[in-house]
Amino acid sequence: MAGDKMQIRMRARVGRHIYSRAASALHAWESGMEVPLGLRVRSVRENDLPEILKIEESAFRYPYPLGYLRFLAKVNPYTFLVAENQSGIVGYVIADIRYRSEGHIISIAVREDERRKGVAKLLIRSVNSEFRKLGVRFVRLEVRASNLAAINLYRSMGYKEVGVMSGYYRDGEDAIEMVARIDDVA
Ligand SMILES: CC(C)(COP(=O)(O)OP(=O)(O)OC[C@H]1O[C@@H](n2cnc3c(N)ncnc32)[C@H](O)[C@@H]1OP(=O)(O)O)[C@@H](O)C(=O)NCCC(=O)NCCS
Repeated sequence: MAGDKMQIRMRARVGRHIYSRAASALHAWESGMEVPLGLRVRSVRENDLPEILKIEESAFRYPYPLGYLRFLAKVNPYTFLVAENQSGIVGYVIADIRYRSEGHIISIAVREDERRKGVAKLLIRSVNSEFRKLGVRFVRLEVRASNLAAINLYRSMGYKEVGVMSGYYRDGEDAIEMVARIDDVA
């Protein structure tokens, strides 16, 4: 499984700090990104789901239920990734592939106490690298028009706004549709 490759541990010097990281973070390292101590990214496992559910419930107004998270984990074994450190799961990204070459980010969330440390960036880079191996050329996502943190995150990684989906969310809020070419993701 793709996740197995991610478990090779390495020591890397990044900026002023020395970090222990997973091989999946190599791209981040090459691009000079700082990664928090002991963070690693791997494919989701069934027993991660209760921790993921906790993050999901605190991050979203309409969280996915456990059964749906379990389904997503089953059908997307290479593109449902978790980031973990010594404290447990600190974030996850759920993505799938549509129309053969189009990636789609379904959800991403980071535990509140671990935000603004580069966890989401590392997850997006990691899923991008899985997408590349699977032949994906473009990635698409939808984000709430009011979610400036997420919009900034995606912009900073090379995603461009391509449209507005009026009333997309169940409370009537619009979604901003964003797209990136796989080779342009920073
Ligand atoms: C959006 C979210 C996933 C970001 O996770 P994170 O690990 O904190 O993000 P990172 O540390 O990788 O941040 C990368 C960049 O995103 C942008 N960003 C992240 N959080 C931000 C915030 N609160 N305000 C403004 N910009 C923000 C910044 O450009 C940041 O770079 P910087 O820290 O160098 O300024 C996290 O806030 C979260 O889980 N939110 C709730 C769930 C959610 O809204 N998910 C998105 C659904 S589309």
